[in-house]
Amino acid sequence: MERIDIGLVGFGTIGSGVVKVLRRRSKLLKKKLGVSINIRKICDVNLRRKRIVQVDSSVLTRDVRQILDDPQIKIVVELVGGIHPAKEIIIQALRSRKHVVTANKALLAECAEEIFKEAGQNDVRVFFEASVGAGIPIVKSLRESLIANRIERIYGIVNGTSNYVLSQMTQQSWDLRRSLKIARQKGYAEKRAFLDLKGIDSAHKLVILAALAFGRWVPLSKVYVEGITDVSLSDVDYARELGYVIKLLAVAKSENDELELRVHPTLIPRRHLLSSVGGVYNAIYVSGDLIEEQVYYGRGAGMFPTASAVVGDIADLVDALKDGACVDKPQLVYKTNIRRVKSISEITSRYYIRFLAIDRPGVLAKISGILGQHKISIASVSQKERKSARIVPIVMMTHEASERSMRLALEKIGCLETIKRKPVALRVERL
Ligand code: HSE
Repeated sequence: MERIDIGLVGFGTIGSGVVKVLRRRSKLLKKKLGVSINIRKICDVNLRRKRIVQVDSSVLTRDVRQILDDPQIKIVVELVGGIHPAKEIIIQALRSRKHVVTANKALLAECAEEIFKEAGQNDVRVFFEASVGAGIPIVKSLRESLIANRIERIYGIVNGTSNYVLSQMTQQSWDLRRSLKIARQKGYAEKRAFLDLKGIDSAHKLVILAALAFGRWVPLSKVYVEGITDVSLSDVDYARELGYVIKLLAVAKSENDELELRVHPTLIPRRHLLSSVGGVYNAIYVSGDLIEEQVYYGRGAGMFPTASAVVGDIADLVDALKDGACVDKPQLVYKTNIRRVKSISEITSRYYIRFLAIDRPGVLAKISGILGQHKISIASVSQKERKSARIVPIVMMTHEASERSMRLALEKIGCLETIKRKPVALRVERL
């Protein structure tokens, strides 16, 4: 076989990057793979948009059927994003017995079982390296390189927008609004950064990481999600004084055949490697029984880092297809011992808590009394200087406590007449 034809659906930023990389590296790829990769058709709804690559008009189409119905095309690269029509396009491609490469984390997090079932029935594959961490090879690492490990914990900083905003709050002491404004000006944050800041994008990626690490697709609804929109500059500052940095962490833990999957702003020790992951960078910490600990680090978004991963997947497929070999990877889901996913109220954690209280004798005793009644042990406490007349911030760190007890205690404390505003509680991971 001299060449393999592919079809690209979605010719936006990432699509243009993929075309550019395939062209720029065509000789290198041919030398390494022994065949050339030919982009036979590119489909997009908008063919007029200015792009960084020029493509012959005969290659462009608005009609996706020209890709799906073309028997010459062996691989469909889906870069549309979102659920619809990306899902229908992928399902149709699989039914036409074409392999699929996608970067679509939202779609995988919501519809993976349906998609992989369809792929299995048609004996074709779906590769998705670019869906988590863009160019960071975390999918391949978890699925192939770490195959013999029992994965214990994953901590991911997997959303560049949130990480940029939190980094600016930490380093520049800008508040969230200002940090987000700068992120938008620099092109790091989208105009509608809702999915990023609310933690949903991180949750999509966590579902994928959990499937790779623990062998099952957990429904997105089982992932606890809390974004960074309520993180205040005061909490960033107090955390720093205590030796911590606040990061939006995607956490996966496996213990006693149970899983914990959660995304939330988290205090992590300043001395830990993950705390120095700044700006739009991503990092994924993995602990396993054989490897002990590893950290994968790099740009988790952007045209070329994402294109690098997409082209890597295309190359994997091409490498197998050229010899007519069957394209295979280790089994993604299998019968595991995992019985269930814990709900957030069942977890235990250390907590950072902050109250705004009236500066009056006995207030601290009342707060610690309620915490004590709920079996929450205080590790440290400090009362800050008054911020306004009679109101003082009180910051506490607790020892390991149950989330359920913490919620009940905070509800009670929040009802005290001496407490102004809802108490703030952030989970702490020692890593
Ligand atoms: N919007 C994502 C981020 C990039 O901010 O990291 C794509 O996954």
